[in-house]
Parts: sequence; structure tokens; C-alpha cells
Amino acid sequence: MRIILGVSGGIAAYKAVLALRLLTEAGHQVRVIPTEAALAFVGRPTWEALSHQPVTTSVFDGADTVDHVRLGREADLVIVAPATADLLARAATGRADDLLTATLLTVHCPVLIAPAMHTEMWHHPATRDNVATLRRHGAHVLDPDSGRLTGADTGPGRLPEPADIVAAALALVHRDETPGAADPQAVAPSAPLAGCTVAISAGGTREPLDPVRFLGNRSSGRQGLALARLAADRGATVHLAAANVEAALLADLPPQVRIEQVETTAELQAAMTTAAANAHAVIMAAAVADFRPASTVEAKIKTHDAEGNRRQTPAIELVANPDILAALVTSRPPGQVVVGFAAETGADSAEVLEHGRAKARRKGADLLAVNRVGAGAGFGDVPNEVVILDSDGGEIGRAGGTKTEVAAGILDAIAARLGSAAHS
Ligand code: CTP
Repeated sequence: MRIILGVSGGIAAYKAVLALRLLTEAGHQVRVIPTEAALAFVGRPTWEALSHQPVTTSVFDGADTVDHVRLGREADLVIVAPATADLLARAATGRADDLLTATLLTVHCPVLIAPAMHTEMWHHPATRDNVATLRRHGAHVLDPDSGRLTGADTGPGRLPEPADIVAAALALVHRDETPGAADPQAVAPSAPLAGCTVAISAGGTREPLDPVRFLGNRSSGRQGLALARLAADRGATVHLAAANVEAALLADLPPQVRIEQVETTAELQAAMTTAAANAHAVIMAAAVADFRPASTVEAKIKTHDAEGNRRQTPAIELVANPDILAALVTSRPPGQVVVGFAAETGADSAEVLEHGRAKARRKGADLLAVNRVGAGAGFGDVPNEVVILDSDGGEIGRAGGTKTEVAAGILDAIAARLGSAAHS
């Protein structure tokens, strides 16, 4: 295969040397196109010696053979590793100010981009937008690994291991050769949720007791975020109400996801009621606190009084929170699909499912995704399996594995409902 290995100017350029070795040892013909900045990290002789090919950075070097067009046309695969924030920005906006970016504008083959940079740069909205643009244009952009960066800092931004980059890139070529296969990152022309608006809640609500304490739960929000990301990938506009979700997780979402951050159940209800008003589908993935303290005190609850005497242990009086899902079901406009989640415990799968069926009938949501939690969790052989029930408690499907696979099963069920509503 003829492969172009683009290298931009980051410290991780040394790892591209290992990727080059893996590719040439596997018998591929590799043309390395570094940026000028990349040569500050790994010099031209290294690339030339290992690729047995000339190495140039500028379109003017091979002007007689119009290299950027020829190389682009002839390539079977392009890998850009590492891709710096600057390279992503130039590629996303169609700049052609060096041989690498000019070549990226002429290729017809699969393109794999492996970004590497400091965490702050990766999380910056400009970089997020550029990554989303490149994905929309059909490039396969890997998420960077998390771990130790150039200095003492750690976080997302590390270049994935060369073997993983090479494997992911070769899989793209294989995928393109498989009829009917699709890149899950690319927005397919037939995106099943194109034109739809989906309101999703994620995370867990917190109910304040005093300025420093709250009643809350352990929900990370990852399942709701997987739903938001995949719904956006499938063409939907997503309104996400994020209850106490870690900022780093939110920063990784594509720009089609509009985020509203909330803390309490009352705030979540307000956000979801507004978002649901114009949504085709509503998904309540958040873990909602069923109760809140009857009152919140403005000063910190102290263990000792002003004289230094220990106070009596306070009792916390609780009042019930509204059931957001039930209210959304009651007020839903015609054709809207409302989805709830139920995490249930039980001695066995049958008991868990019984709890789920009872909840499905009680809540009245069009779909309820039931999962088994606690010791020996899971319904079958698949870890993290959910059973999707209809409002009568009837099983309409199962989805399991990763959070993205669970999200895929739920979004499939929603798309089927929306499709059949449109045709009825
Ligand atoms: N939910 C909600 N508002 C609440 C409680 C739950 O909208 N006050 C939603 C959750 O987001 C989830 C579904 O209802 O989609 C089921 O949540 P769960 O906590 O399992 O249900 P509860 O009604 O709290 O039932 P129970 O505690 O009896 O299991």
C-alpha cells in the first residue's frame, strides 16, 4: 500500500518514527511529509533513512512534478501523527500553506488523524470545533490517550501508541473495502436522527443542605454523555442538561451538543421542561434525587456552638422531589418519544425485570431501559446489558456491552418509534 505519514511539530513526533518502522516492516511504501516544525523534533535524515524516500515540507520543492496533487492521488491511506492543534486548525479550514496541508486537500483515500497536545489545548473550544469539522469532512480523528504529557502534567492529550495508530489506520482501509461498512464517527448521509432534536439529561442531581454540603449520588453521567455524543453523530441536535458532570467529560462532546449545566432537581426539571418542548425525543438518563432537605440553611451547619459546646446531632427532614420523567410523560406533545432509565437490584434477572416492568407501567414512558445493578449485575452474558421495555412492560429489545453500545440500542429503538410515528 502507498501510505502518506504526515508529521506535525510536537514532541510526540518521535513516536511517528516507530509508526513508520511498523509500516515499512509490514511492506508498505511510506512517504513521510513532515511540517517544518516537525523537523525541529526529528530531523530529515531520520525520515529519509527509514522511509527510503525523499522528504520535503514545501510545495515548491517538487514543483516540477506537482507533488501535493500526485502524492494525494496515489495514496491509499494517510496517517497524520502527531497532529498538533495548529495542524488541526489548518487542516479544518482548508489551508494549504505547506506540503502536508496541501496534500490533505487532494487525497481521496481514508485519512486517520492522531492528535497530541496539552490537555488545555485539546479541550479548547477552537480545537473541539476543528476536530468536529474534520470528522464531518470524513477524516477519522482518534481521541488522544490520557496520561503523562511533556512536562509533569497529565491528562488527555498523549499520542496513542504507534501500534494502535497503525492498527486503527489499516482498519480504515479494510473497512472501506468491506461493502456496506460505515465509520461510526462520520455522519452518514442517511443519519437516522438527521433533523431531530433530542433532549437528554445526564449525571446526578445534588440537593444542598448548607453552603458546603449536599445530598447526592455517584452518577458520573457517562451513559447520558454516550447518548448525547452518539445522537449527535447520528445527525441530531442535542440539548444536554448536565447535572454535576465533570467538566473534562463535557469538554469532549461535539459542538452539536448544547450543554446546560445544572445542580439541583428543580434546576434539572426547568432545563428539561424547556428542552423537551421542541424535542422529538427526550431521554432521562440522569440519576435524580428523590428527596431534598426540607430547608437549606445559609450558614454552615456547625458541630459546636459559640461557647465551644458540642451541638445536638441535627435531624434532616426531607421532602419529596417532583418526578421529572412522569411530568415529561404527562406533558409530552404528540409523536414525542420519552425514554427513562431504571437501575434495579434483585436476587436474579427475573426479579429485576419484574421491578422494571412495574416501573415501566407506573412511569408511562414510551421506552424504559432497565439495567441490573449490584452484586452479580447484568442480565446475561453481556456486561452492562439493558433490557428495553415499552410502557406496558413488554420487552422490545436488549443492548449491552459498552456505554456507546447501550446508547446505540436505545437510539435505534427511538429511531424505530419516530419512524413508525411518522408513517402512522
Ligand atoms: N426520575 C425522575 N425524577 C425523579 C426520579 C427519577 O425523572 N424524581 C427518572 C430517572 O431519570 C429515570 C427514571 O425516572 O429515568 C427512573 O428512576 P429511578 O430512580 O429508578 O426511579 P424512581 O421513581 O426513583 O423509583 P424507585 O426509587 O422506587 O426505584
